[in-house]
Amino acid sequence: MKIAIDGPAGAGKSTVAKAIAQKMNFNYLDTGAMYRAAAYAMIEQGIEPSDRTAVLNALPGLSMKIIYKDGVQKVLIDGKDVTPYIRTPRISRGASDIAIIPELRLKLVDIQREVANTYDVVMDGRDIGTYVLPDADFKFFVTASPHERAKRRYLELKETLPEADINEIERDIIARDETDSTREFAPLRQAEDAILVDTTEMDRDQVIAHISAMISGAK
Ligand code: CDP
Ligand code: CDP
Repeated sequence: MKIAIDGPAGAGKSTVAKAIAQKMNFNYLDTGAMYRAAAYAMIEQGIEPSDRTAVLNALPGLSMKIIYKDGVQKVLIDGKDVTPYIRTPRISRGASDIAIIPELRLKLVDIQREVANTYDVVMDGRDIGTYVLPDADFKFFVTASPHERAKRRYLELKETLPEADINEIERDIIARDETDSTREFAPLRQAEDAILVDTTEMDRDQVIAHISAMISGAK
């Protein structure tokens, strides 16, 4: 079984996807973490994620692997777990820049489909329902207003980054949404057969209950 959850930054995709995966005993695949890890790997080599030529040259040497440790996903680059280093604002922007490059996307989509062929999965991202898993059993498009999404991210970030600025986060989210939805290859878009869930006025538990009810109601 495959469940696809797409939507813009900070909408609550991963929170919901993780909870549903846990409830159903499925594997959760955070595909955003893969674009983030790719950006991280490039930056570590002194390559700007927006430098298409340099990224294409480095692409054959990019070795990414997904493993599950105690049910938790880890992204390995050259065998090293980079998961703790990929949540910074710099990597968020880098992930969005590198995600424009079709050759990079195809490499990551291969890994994503392999995971979906190996396990029952809940996968979240931007193009899961439209491109990666067009035949998913369930597709949800989770969204919320940009201001609400920025507020959620701010509350999350300020625990580790006290100088976090909500206005800057909102600008960053809007810029990323724009890059993600206007790119030519596999842009952020609601699949025609996806169920729209606007979470602006819903808390985490309400969203989880709502999506779980739709899945169990349809089974
Ligand atoms: O994966 P995505 O970027 O879509 O969002 P997330 O990382 O799941 O959620 C961003 C933050 O919003 C987290 O701190 C969640 O706990 C919080 N959240 C919320 O406040 N209300 C919701 N309905 C969903 C998530
Ligand atoms: O958690 P948040 O929503 O902030 O971002 P993410 O899901 O970790 O994704 C980071 C970036 O990776 C996004 O802004 C997209 O540019 C890119 N991405 C993508 O292009 N396709 C996906 N399936 C997942 C992420």
